[in-house]
Amino acid sequence: MAVASRLSHVVESQQFSRALLEELFTRADEIKREPHRFIGRLAGQVMAALFYEPSTRTRLSFEAAMLRLGGQTMGTDNAREFSSAAKGETLEDTIRIVSGYADVIVLRHKEEGAARRAAAVSTVPVINAGDGPGQHPTQALLDLYTVRAELGKVDGVRVAMVGDLANGRTVRSLTYLLSKFKDVKVWFVAPPEVAMREDLKAHLDEHHVPWLETEDLAGVLPEVDVVYMTRIQKERFTDLETYDKVRGVYRIDKDALARMRKYAVLMHPLPRVDEITPDVDDDPRAAYFRQARNGLQVRMALLEKLLT
Ligand code: CP
Repeated sequence: MAVASRLSHVVESQQFSRALLEELFTRADEIKREPHRFIGRLAGQVMAALFYEPSTRTRLSFEAAMLRLGGQTMGTDNAREFSSAAKGETLEDTIRIVSGYADVIVLRHKEEGAARRAAAVSTVPVINAGDGPGQHPTQALLDLYTVRAELGKVDGVRVAMVGDLANGRTVRSLTYLLSKFKDVKVWFVAPPEVAMREDLKAHLDEHHVPWLETEDLAGVLPEVDVVYMTRIQKERFTDLETYDKVRGVYRIDKDALARMRKYAVLMHPLPRVDEITPDVDDDPRAAYFRQARNGLQVRMALLEKLLT
């Protein structure tokens, strides 16, 4: 998909140019500062949320974003059971129908590539809200916005991606975005069973982004500005023996936090299970709840960009 300065569908992070990212983030800053200016901006427009996998943050922050912009929402949050998918309707047919009812479709699906398939047949913008282990580009937007907000810059940041990297769509999308910035360095911290896939490492090589792969989280913590923790995703394993081998492998607790830099940032796309202990939530470096909150303004900026 071409690098876009205009947006039609949002399928993958590679679509976003630096200029477009800066435009969206500046808009998100404005929305945060002066929310009243944006009331009614999308009046008369309708967003359909089709969620074939569970969600709390993505679904509700998109709905809140649309409502706060004056638009309306409809959808199904268990589309596998409560849409006509349960009767055997294809994703393509569902999208053809829903694009006749809505001005934008937010789609979460269990299959990698589903958003691209939907975009190919939709007459309105499709936003990928997570396609299996593929990508989650709007999560990456709010993640990058959070890095920029917490550290004041993205160029030059040193980031550790930790956990289930083979299945981690948020890590994939964020890494693609980071590769657009200067002097970024990435550590992939994972057991071999869920190591980062080769395609993304090749992408970093192509873009001259240095990366390292290790299982040693304790050794990496003092080196980085951002620790991006992820959950080991039980639902993505076909073999539960492998899941049992890697579950709980990394944990940020008070001892681990003490190894991090004083001004580092601890992020997580959430939900967490046991990879960050709640007793670190009050540390100023724990940014994951601020990160989730940023999703509202970033998604408002994105919807405004797509629909006006
Ligand atoms: N981060 C994220 O995608 O959360 P949800 O699964 O709750 O939407």
